[in-house]
Amino acid sequence: MEKIVVNFQPMDKSVKVRPGTTVLRAAREAKVPISTRCGGKAGCLMCKILLEPDQAAALTSPTEAERRKLGYQIEQGYRLACQAKICGQGVVRVPEDPLKAAIRKQLEQQQDDSLW
Ligand code: FES
Repeated sequence: MEKIVVNFQPMDKSVKVRPGTTVLRAAREAKVPISTRCGGKAGCLMCKILLEPDQAAALTSPTEAERRKLGYQIEQGYRLACQAKICGQGVVRVPEDPLKAAIRKQLEQQQDDSLW
């Protein structure tokens, strides 16, 4: 079976995987960190990834669990890395961890405040 190239952004890391591999497993093979807490059971929503509209063919259709958990976010391109399987070449965007994003914003705010 021919392997498929998946690229992870913004870290720009690529990996070749077999069709049917979950995005989470592919990310681990590419050494791309994606947080999980539920062990890949669509329970924690920490493994959200973003798929650009022109990349939709890269992954299998959303599972029932993804639709139930993500709701309207599916239409925005969000998927669960533990549920979505790779079926074609594509680019997957890994959003910044919400906790890291909050800390980064706070640090940026403190830097701005210290300038005054
Ligand atoms: S790993 Fe928990 S929802 Fe995907």
